[in-house]
Amino acid sequence: MSDTVLLERKGRVALLTLNRPQALNALNSELLTTLCAHLDTLSEDESVGCVVITGSEKAFAAGADIKEMSDKTYIEMKNADHFGRRFNALKDTKLPMIAAVSGFALGGGCELAMICDFIIASETAKFGQPEIKLGVIPGMGGTQRLTRAVGKAKAMDLVLTGRMMDAQEAERSGLVARVVPSDKLLETALSAAEAIASYSRPTVVTAKEAVNRAFETTLSEGLHYEQRVFYPLFATEDQKEGMAAFTEKRPPDFKHR
Ligand code: HXC
Repeated sequence: MSDTVLLERKGRVALLTLNRPQALNALNSELLTTLCAHLDTLSEDESVGCVVITGSEKAFAAGADIKEMSDKTYIEMKNADHFGRRFNALKDTKLPMIAAVSGFALGGGCELAMICDFIIASETAKFGQPEIKLGVIPGMGGTQRLTRAVGKAKAMDLVLTGRMMDAQEAERSGLVARVVPSDKLLETALSAAEAIASYSRPTVVTAKEAVNRAFETTLSEGLHYEQRVFYPLFATEDQKEGMAAFTEKRPPDFKHR
């Protein structure tokens, strides 16, 4: 596997580090293919309960690789559907994913962070969709996920001006779950991932799917969906274990982690 994405296992957590420092982790085909291949393998591995995706201190990812795509024609982009196929695979990943963002998360980098289930940012993080400056628009969810996360006013501001927002503004706007000092970023993200990975994996996947459903449907349909997936959890050994452990004042030992 290419070294454009490094994989480290930390117990039940998998840490994926984007690794093209010379290009601020710009997302070229090799990197995206490698990222998807890792996630595919990790999804089939029952000993993995959560994934953290991170970059370097200077950049989570400064976007799609501009140098790789600058000469592409419409037909080449459309036929290869290079970004669409990879981003759809990322979207369909069932494993919970946390983006640990330091430095630039721009264009496709911001879109990659948003495809994760939540973002933990360091105080140095900068988010933006600067594609307008290149004569294009966000192509992998920027106009949709950013708008759902921060609302129309802020999304329009970012997408139309191409400006960046800092970590504090991103947290105030609802893009980011937590902002932490730079030297605590990985520790915080890994600790959140460890907590998630300690729970029943089918329950975690159900919770992720239920929250995501809120973006796809009406409130009454979403509530109906939630009830439909809530009751069956009472058929699992892990529900019995979780509730028994509470009553017996001991930590739960979930079978299906
Ligand atoms: C290719 C990139 C890159 C990118 C940076 N580099 N971003 N290469 N694609 N997206 C390269 C630079 O060319 C340079 O290499 C090296 O990384 C360091 O970058 P500098 O510009 O010298 O660093 P700095 O002055 O600190 O500026 C940082 C920056 C700037 C503000 C992040 O690099 C920048 O504006 N990058 C482009 C951001 C962007 O427009 N992203 C959206 C891309 S379009 P060399 O060898 O030249 O010195 C997109 C569409 C998504 O993402 C659609 C589907 C996914």
